[in-house]
Amino acid sequence: MRKALIWLILTVLSGGGVVVYALHQQYEEQSAEFRILYRDITVKLSQNDVILALLSNSSDPAVVQQKFPYILRWQTQPHEPPRPDINPARAGTYWINSPQGSLLIDLPTLLADFVRTQKFRHFSLSWKDTPLITQGAEGKGDWWRWEKDIASPSQPLNLLVTNNPDWRSLPWLVLLLVGVFWAVVIYFYNQYQMTKRQRNIANLRAHFSELARLNAMGEIAAGMVHELNQPLTAILSYSQTAQRLIKQQQAEKAQPLLDASVMQTKRISALLLAFREKLHSDEQALQPVNLRQVWERVTMLLGNEIERGKVSVINQVPESLPSLIASPLGIEQIFHNLLNNAIQAQQKTEKAWVTIHASQTADSIILTVTDGGQGLSEQALEQVFMPFFTTRKDGLGLGMALTETLVQRLNGSIQAQNSATGGACFTLVFPLTQQEA
Ligand SMILES: Nc1ncnc2c1ncn2[C@@H]1O[C@H](COP(=O)(O)OP(=O)(O)OP(=O)(O)O)[C@@H](O)[C@H]1O
Ligand SMILES: [Mg+2]
Repeated sequence: MRKALIWLILTVLSGGGVVVYALHQQYEEQSAEFRILYRDITVKLSQNDVILALLSNSSDPAVVQQKFPYILRWQTQPHEPPRPDINPARAGTYWINSPQGSLLIDLPTLLADFVRTQKFRHFSLSWKDTPLITQGAEGKGDWWRWEKDIASPSQPLNLLVTNNPDWRSLPWLVLLLVGVFWAVVIYFYNQYQMTKRQRNIANLRAHFSELARLNAMGEIAAGMVHELNQPLTAILSYSQTAQRLIKQQQAEKAQPLLDASVMQTKRISALLLAFREKLHSDEQALQPVNLRQVWERVTMLLGNEIERGKVSVINQVPESLPSLIASPLGIEQIFHNLLNNAIQAQQKTEKAWVTIHASQTADSIILTVTDGGQGLSEQALEQVFMPFFTTRKDGLGLGMALTETLVQRLNGSIQAQNSATGGACFTLVFPLTQQEA
């Protein structure tokens, strides 16, 4: 619609220009015709003065009449008293007078040729508003009008012609071509715009996928930093204790610490492998996961922290709970983050505890992880899953954000609230649809 309007405006504007130019041309041509007509009439009328000067009493009226049929009468004595120049009694006739005599001129006969050949719509010669000859329409409302007094002292007649533009001879073909021209220009401009827009969209898409890739890389890097931090700290602590024991000649006591170190190292290796796979694709290897066992393993991995915080960890996941089809490492990370947070939240609590509880409904498994800490503040309740939200001095604020992503990848959901006892309570729901029992 907008394009049609633009086309119309452009066509009307440039078509208008063509029409104005063509009309101007017509006007100029007719002005030239008027000048020629004026000149010819002036020449013709000035002949009368010459004839009057040459006429003598001896001229033979019949010969004069034959040569100049428009001279109706003449007399070689001037009128006394002098006659008016024009005799309005009979339209188109007038006397011209001089000291030599007078001539009665019949204007229609004198100008018969011009009158016959002129092409104006209205033509008139008049003397002091008295028309001597008129031809054609009245011409009052006509577009163009040319008027001039004949430069003859004896016959100062007024020549007036009018005309209208000849619409049929306007350059209609050119106007049509103008319309077609603008239609073609608008079509190609449109095509150009469309290609440009498509190119922009393609560029944006490329830019966006690059950004998305960078974003994913950033997410992976942040995840790596977060997840590797705890096992590395644990390995450091186990190794330092083992070193001390060996120095104290108690090498046999170092054995379980080295085993724990190996376990943490294997976890690091598994995490790195998972991250590497994630870099290649988002597909994760799903398999039946025993939630109770994974929780036990996480308890072992965080053994150091649990011991240091004197936290009692209670596993209320029933043995009979069906396995969840998931990535074992993913579930391990989820539990690891939840348990780690619960331990960290209770560093100043005397009787620290964490309970995991699991139940099954017709189509889902519901897990709750509750602790005996202070619970989540109002702000934490709102923002706990936002990346980089943290209230801990050395926290990154990524644990719960990563946990939510991992839960959502398994089509599950996670919610944070405070339990009746005041501690934090995280509820996780995993659908059992298409899951194996
Ligand atoms: N069990 C909990 N009890 C009380 N507050 C908690 C608990 N779990 C999480 N929070 C609050 O939520 C915030 C965000 O937790 P999140 O695990 O995402 O980050 P973080 O533990 O602070 O840092 P990190 O990235 O190292 O895990 C915590 O700083 C804390 O304020
Ligand atoms: Mg955390």
